[in-house]
Amino acid sequence: MKHLHMTLAVLSIALFSFRFFLTLANSAKLQQKWLKITPHVIDTLLLAVGIGMAVKLALNPFEQLWLGEKLLAIVAYIFTGFYALKFARNRTMQIFGYVGAVGWFMLVARIAMTKETFIF
Ligand code: HEM
Repeated sequence: MKHLHMTLAVLSIALFSFRFFLTLANSAKLQQKWLKITPHVIDTLLLAVGIGMAVKLALNPFEQLWLGEKLLAIVAYIFTGFYALKFARNRTMQIFGYVGAVGWFMLVARIAMTKETFIF
């Protein structure tokens, strides 16, 4: 389960980055059906397998604060990612959004590997 989870995490950031560079390039490839559907399927599976592991290991995010912090960082990753791809008005703001999303993603991975809180 953990290996599947980690593979999905790598696919998630790879597809997000690919979509971001297509957005910057104003590419028509962004309209391809598989690029609209696959990232959502991957991200949903990533979250589902993560929740599955947390349930299986009886981890409560209010007790295991690293998990609570990881979930908050995931929310920030989703919002900044959404901003970079959909709402940012110009190239500079798109790049800010992308760098922010990658930063949050790196924090998520760091928390997952060390199981130490970073903020709390
Ligand atoms: C952007 C989303 C996510 C990323 C990048 C991510 C990343 C990772 C990574 C790299 C590991 C392996 C850490 C290790 O070396 O042991 C891991 C484990 C884990 N993740 Fe995630 N994860 C994400 C989402 C989630 C979600 C939504 C949950 C749900 C609560 C979750 C729960 C877990 C659990 C329970 C483990 C196993 C911890 C253990 O070994 O005891 N993850 N995650």
